[in-house]
Amino acid sequence: MSFTVGTDAYARHVGRYGPALSATHADAARVAPGDRALDVGCGPGVLIAELARRLGSDRVAGVDPSRPFVAAARAAVPGADVRVAPAEQLPFDTDSFDVVLSQLVVNFMTDAEAGVAEMRRVARRAVTSCVWDYAGEMRMLRIFWDAALELDRDAPDEGRTMRYCTRDELSALWTRAGLRDVETQPLVVEAGYDDFDDYWSPFTAGIAPSGAYCASLSGEQQAALRAACFRRLGSPAGPFTLSARAWLVRGSTS
Ligand SMILES: C[S@@+](CC[C@H](N)C(=O)[O-])C[C@H]1O[C@@H](n2cnc3c(N)ncnc32)[C@H](O)[C@@H]1O
Repeated sequence: MSFTVGTDAYARHVGRYGPALSATHADAARVAPGDRALDVGCGPGVLIAELARRLGSDRVAGVDPSRPFVAAARAAVPGADVRVAPAEQLPFDTDSFDVVLSQLVVNFMTDAEAGVAEMRRVARRAVTSCVWDYAGEMRMLRIFWDAALELDRDAPDEGRTMRYCTRDELSALWTRAGLRDVETQPLVVEAGYDDFDDYWSPFTAGIAPSGAYCASLSGEQQAALRAACFRRLGSPAGPFTLSARAWLVRGSTS
């Protein structure tokens, strides 16, 4: 998956929503002082940073298969135990953490059933995750893919290609993993853009599926897609804000 391009590009792409999403995610996960928490698929460390603020960095761990992201997360949260590993093979003992979280990750796992089973194995109390509402109210990506579909009906719209981006699919995945009292809820956050180029330029860096698609286009095709995005955003002349919805799922281990 295209998450090795660079942490700066990620921060300006979907990472822009990360701090606000991490705070609402940690609240919904009911992380409490004294807990030990693991962030699976931690990326550059935005959720680990939020968890460390609440729990202390020595009570927080993270894993990600991307080495540049693990290096960035270690630098962002000194003292946290951040390792290179996939969700499907977590390098921790059973019941090592009170809460195990993953943010915007289960839809990218090679084997989500195995990944969630591993999250459950290392969790004593609860397992949570959130995934963008790609087909609906994640506006930054929805605008991009609707513009892409207007020009190319075979564009790999994440609203169609992504799994586990509805409440029902997430709930079923958690239930199959043996988690109990499974509940889902929307997490809605916002991010600001200085201008249209601030929105557009991260797509050209090739990060994530949307960036990979954008970077695969010819110069002429990219210009057409850029123009279609600009129009769908209402041709903004200056700063603007977009909202983004993710679906959260939470389950208890007992
Ligand atoms: C959209 S990013 C989310 C990163 C971070 N959680 C955040 O909220 O910014 C998806 C992350 O999933 C990671 N990933 C992909 N496959 C994975 C797997 N099998 N197990 C764990 N993480 C995985 C990627 O390396 C990337 O860091």
